[in-house]
Amino acid sequence: MSDYFMNAYHRLPVTFTEGRGARLYDTNGKSYLDFASGIAVNCLGHNHPALVRAISEQAAKLIHTCNYYQSDVSLVFAEKLVKACSGAGMKKVFLCNSGAEANEGACKIARKYSLKKYGEGRHRILTLNGSFHGRTITTLSATGQEKFHRDFGPFTEGFSHVPGGDIAVLDRALDKKTTAGLLIEAVQGESGIVPQSEEFIAAAAALCAERDILLMFDEIQCGLGRTGSFLACEAYGVQADVVTLAKGIAGGIPAGAVLAGDRAAAVFETGDHGSTFGGGPLAAAAGIVVLDTVNDPAFLAEIARKGKTITAAAGGWNHPMIREVRGRGLMIGIDIEKNAWPVVEACLAAGLLVLGAGQKTLRLLPPFVINDREIEQGLAILKAVLDSAA
Ligand SMILES: Cc1ncc(COP(=O)(O)O)c(C=O)c1O
Repeated sequence: MSDYFMNAYHRLPVTFTEGRGARLYDTNGKSYLDFASGIAVNCLGHNHPALVRAISEQAAKLIHTCNYYQSDVSLVFAEKLVKACSGAGMKKVFLCNSGAEANEGACKIARKYSLKKYGEGRHRILTLNGSFHGRTITTLSATGQEKFHRDFGPFTEGFSHVPGGDIAVLDRALDKKTTAGLLIEAVQGESGIVPQSEEFIAAAAALCAERDILLMFDEIQCGLGRTGSFLACEAYGVQADVVTLAKGIAGGIPAGAVLAGDRAAAVFETGDHGSTFGGGPLAAAAGIVVLDTVNDPAFLAEIARKGKTITAAAGGWNHPMIREVRGRGLMIGIDIEKNAWPVVEACLAAGLLVLGAGQKTLRLLPPFVINDREIEQGLAILKAVLDSAA
């Protein structure tokens, strides 16, 4: 452990040196199966040949330009990304570096959209209980989990939270005199893989359309193929006004995006927003490889199939430690009888990386390139760990 890092993370006792596909290796050469993907980031696994080639070649040509100009690769990336998200109605993109930054952009779009059309006082943004939207002061306001709201106030005002699934409460909370936007994770990640119901999302879309409130999906964890459709909201059959992406968007190179559909695409005018590194050539080159690989029906179908293999296997154990297995694609939550953290640590010791979510949920986010043999091996480790924890 280092004396030099601030103590912001609970770090597990392992130091990695390299990875290949769904495997990582530590300083002792010990191998680990990766069912975490760096929290949904390494979607193409580690050391993916096309990704490494694109990044290396781009690094030798042009790493940064700043947004006074554009680069050949950022033009291609933006076009491919908008087209990949067109099923949800997206027309334009603003490129940035992270999830929190993408959600900040979304909140700014909702507020300006509303201000220009309706004037002052209609700036509230509604999110769901259990949501996670980032660690900046504003995205913490948006995050509907009390435990993140300690010690750092005052937070940005104008955010409130409602329970997911309760259409009557949502109907009352979406007050058209005060509300600019509704920000939703179609499948919540951080709080334990919680998919919203189709009825709830359909009602949210109808209410937002009727009241001219922007419907915004935070797809930072659940987007980019993770649930088996390119965007998770697409599977609900609704059109969004804004979609935010980050995490896996450039396969591990920091990047984020705010996309907007017809109502919101022209809200940002020159000088309204910016980001020094956003959409830089290196991230764009990496992002093109991710999009070319993931935005393919056959590849997405494989994500869904692999996810079903895992949920069916873990569900079929009828294990005394397991309360529920749920998921969409390769975004899987396993509720267990005991605290998740000791199980996460025991899995690590046994050579498997899994994540915790909430208190008693194991979160599995394997890379999309994981193969059936690796899935089998990882599940065998998980079962053995749960057997000894029971
Ligand atoms: C749904 C969601 N939104 C936003 C964020 C924040 O992303 P970042 O850590 O890149 O700022 C996360 C990170 O876990 C997330 O899962």
